[in-house]
Order: sequence, then C-alpha cells, then structure tokens
Amino acid sequence: MEIRELHGDEQAPMDLLLLADPSRKLVDGYIRRGQCFVAELNDEIAGVYVLLPTRPGTVEIVNIAVDESKQGQGIGRRLVNHAIQQARSHGYKTIEIGTGNSGIGQLALYQKCGFRITGVDRDFFIRHYTEEIFENGIQVVDMIRLAQDL
Ligand code: ACO
Ligand code: ACO
Repeated sequence: MEIRELHGDEQAPMDLLLLADPSRKLVDGYIRRGQCFVAELNDEIAGVYVLLPTRPGTVEIVNIAVDESKQGQGIGRRLVNHAIQQARSHGYKTIEIGTGNSGIGQLALYQKCGFRITGVDRDFFIRHYTEEIFENGIQVVDMIRLAQDL
C-alpha cells in the first residue's frame, strides 16, 4: 500500500470523504484549503485524509476515511501515523483531530496513535449540521477534541 499526496489535477475521492463528514460544504472547504493524501491498494484508492493548517504551528486532520470494505485492516492507523509524520517533518508543533461523541472506534484509534483528549466542543453537531446524525445508536451532538505534541 502506498500513501501519497493527491495531485492538483486529480479528483478528490468525494464518496470516501463524505463517509467521515456528511457536510459537502465543509468537505469542499477542507480540500480547497488543506492537503489531501490517499492510500492506494492495487491502483485503487482505499483511504484518504486531509491535513489543514489551522493556527501558527498547528495542523489538524480534518477528514479521514477508509473504504467500508477495507476497514479494520490497519489502513486507518497507517493514515493517522502518516499524517503525524507529515506534520512533524514540516515543523508543526501540534497535531489535532476531532470526532463526534459517538465515535467509539475513532476515539480508540486516535488514542492508540498518541492523541490525548483536550476538550469538548459542546453542541458542535447541532450548530453545524441541519440533520440529526446517529452512530453506534448514539446521537452525535458534541465534538471531542484531541491533540498531540510533535
Ligand atoms: N474498541 C477498541 N478499539 C477499537 C474499537 C473499539 N470499539 N474500534 C476500533 N478500534 C481499534 C482497532 O482495534 C484498531 O486498533 P489496532 O490497530 O490496535 O488493532 C484501530 O482502532 C482501528 O484501526 P484500523 O483498522 O487501522 O482502522 P480503519 O482502517 O477501519 O480506519 C476509520 C478507521 C478511518 C475511522 C474508518 O473506520 C472509517 O473510515 N470510518 C468511517 C468514517 C469516519 O468515521 N471517519 C472519522 C471521522 S472523524 C475525522 O474525520 C477527523
Ligand atoms: N461500542 C458500542 N456500544 C457498546 C460498546 C462498544 N464498544 N460497549 C458496550 N456498548 C453498549 C452495549 O451495546 C449496550 O448497549 P445496548 O443496551 O444499546 O445494547 C451497553 O453499552 C452495555 O449495556 P449492558 O449489557 O447493560 O452493560 P453491562 O451489564 O455490561 O455493564 C458495565 C456495563 C457496568 C460498565 C460493566 O461492563 C462493568 O462492570 N465493567 C467493569 C467495571 C467498570 O468499568 N465500571 C464502570 C467504571 S466507571 C464508574 O464506575 C462510574
């Protein structure tokens, strides 16, 4: 499997990006302002992440997704670790990530990759999304914020 940056003239894998975030408007903004990386397996895109500089010295993984048929095989972990290496090699001091309160698997993965919870953005998903979203039988209302020093 190879992880590489998407060239400027290539289409971003929108179906995958929308798995991580149902808001087309937010996703469009992320790919316009951030750097998009893809994981390729047998010439097919199996995963994606977008890295976005947010404040001086800080970068955020704003979107990460693996094709549903290929989840649970370690691709997500490799993408998160790639993002951490990428941020470190570009001299960033902090990398951040956020996920919904219902994202049990995501919270497990991010903490296994070294992220610590820094706070809760209460009602984030109520303020920014018009439709109610459920995951693991739990309504997504709050954004759990995580970070790690590089
Ligand atoms: N309890 C404990 N550990 C768990 C649980 C759980 N319920 N669920 C997952 N994990 C662990 C796994 O055991 C594994 O750890 P390991 O490497 O020690 O075995 C790790 O979390 C998951 O590892 P991967 O197989 O590498 O993950 P995957 O390839 O499935 O990718 C991802 C994870 C990207 C979250 C994928 O499931 C996905 O695309 N989901 C839909 C989109 C999404 O929710 N994206 C994130 C939104 S937040 C954001 O974009 C910033
Ligand atoms: N992903 C999604 N849902 C999950 C997961 C998971 N990884 N793990 C549990 N759940 C859900 C189950 O699906 C179930 O939901 P459902 O009713 O919709 O199906 C619910 O959580 C668990 O329900 P129960 O079977 O009623 O829980 P149980 O009888 O196992 O009791 C408890 C839970 C008390 C935490 C038990 O596991 C335990 O004693 N653990 C060890 C001690 C402990 O950790 N206690 C809590 C410490 S914190 C404190 O004491 C305040």
